[in-house]
Amino acid sequence: MEHYETMEQLREEVLQCQRCGLCQGRHNVVFGTGNPHAGVLFVGEGPGEQEDLRGEPFVGRSGQLLDKMLDYVGLSRQNDFFIANMVKCRPPQNRDPSKDEVAMCMDWLRSQSRLIAPRIIVCLGRIAAISLIDPGFKVTRQHGQFYEKSGILFMGTYHPAALLRYPSNKAAAMEDLTALRAKMEELGLK
Ligand code: URA
Repeated sequence: MEHYETMEQLREEVLQCQRCGLCQGRHNVVFGTGNPHAGVLFVGEGPGEQEDLRGEPFVGRSGQLLDKMLDYVGLSRQNDFFIANMVKCRPPQNRDPSKDEVAMCMDWLRSQSRLIAPRIIVCLGRIAAISLIDPGFKVTRQHGQFYEKSGILFMGTYHPAALLRYPSNKAAAMEDLTALRAKMEELGLK
């Protein structure tokens, strides 16, 4: 894996990426946004239609819900974390990214994580959680729990798109974000 000195240098490289077939249908590479010096990295699945058109993560309906929930616990994407996705280009018709696509994009996420050096990584939804925490991760059973791996705390929670489909899980997701906020305070990140 190449070593990047700055997020800008890495971004330049990622914007040129043609490692997998997803590059063919994209309007924009969605690199990620937020505070590159934050103690927390949020990781989603992959860009949807709005994200692909605008080149920014979580700007569609899921993103609006996420912002509202974060606001409720006093956290903001601009200050408190960096947010990126497992795959940086939109899968056609918003299908799940394949294992190969996730694997080919993983180096970019690793480089981002190395530059940010987060204390906590929050996995939004199953795809991020099975890729980063444990291949057998079950969101319904394991959401909100912290797992330590190589000095970083990982937590999986519901994907906001899943909450739009099943709003009854919103209360549980809010508990997860409340636990995140408490952990951030404990670690002096808030
Ligand atoms: N869903 C994701 O997982 N990521 C985005 O950026 C938008 C929707």
